[in-house]
Amino acid sequence: MNQPVAITRAVSPRINECELTYADREPIDPARARAQHETYEAWLETQGLRIVRAKDAPDNPDGVFVEDTAIVLDEVAIITRPGAASRRSETESVASVLKPYRELKHIVAPATIDGGDVLRHGKRIYVGLSTRTSDAVLDQLGPIVDPFGYRIDLVPLKRCLHLKSAATLISDDTILYNPACVHDEAFHHVRMLEVDSSEPGAANVLRVNDRLLISSSFPRTAEMLMREGFVVDVLHYDELEKAEAGVTCCSILVS
Ligand code: GLY
Repeated sequence: MNQPVAITRAVSPRINECELTYADREPIDPARARAQHETYEAWLETQGLRIVRAKDAPDNPDGVFVEDTAIVLDEVAIITRPGAASRRSETESVASVLKPYRELKHIVAPATIDGGDVLRHGKRIYVGLSTRTSDAVLDQLGPIVDPFGYRIDLVPLKRCLHLKSAATLISDDTILYNPACVHDEAFHHVRMLEVDSSEPGAANVLRVNDRLLISSSFPRTAEMLMREGFVVDVLHYDELEKAEAGVTCCSILVS
């Protein structure tokens, strides 16, 4: 089997100009953000993933958040049209990296979608209706994924940047979620675990090889996950969180 790959991108020196939707702007230390990102990449390598960095994009403040530029399924990769105009020029360089691994399809205007709004569970694709993703995208996404047997469910969101800010898949049958942002009834045939109520950002957890990576900003949720029997690794990620990001945002996993 080919070695699985994690696509990442270097932190832009202009990260302080990143998009913010619900978060207040706080100064970001680019050197500290870079160091945290490198630790994140090193963790991915310990999980057997080969890091493939997309071309540097110093003029894209949010370019490190590659997750939003593509939706990778087993059968096809869909290059998104991000909801924030400032982010649309991020996609081409990620498409170049993905090309050897998957057939590429593209979302085109006027529809928009961010990869952070897409959560796949088996043959269900949940699409969060955030400020970045338009329901018009269904007309394009449906014909791409229908032939492979996927069904798409739209998920209403309350005050969170992306669906995966509020819900991530942490095992084959479990979703970790923040009930303040998304209703558990939006999800089907899956066990729902709530984040600790004092840690609303904790639902964004990265699952690789049945290990979970969570930010050190969310110790109570991390402890709860360990009590539930999950294998949990904790990463300092607070500098990148100031850019309204979570741990899934900085990679696209291709196996
Ligand atoms: N700063 C992350 C985003 O708004 O896309």
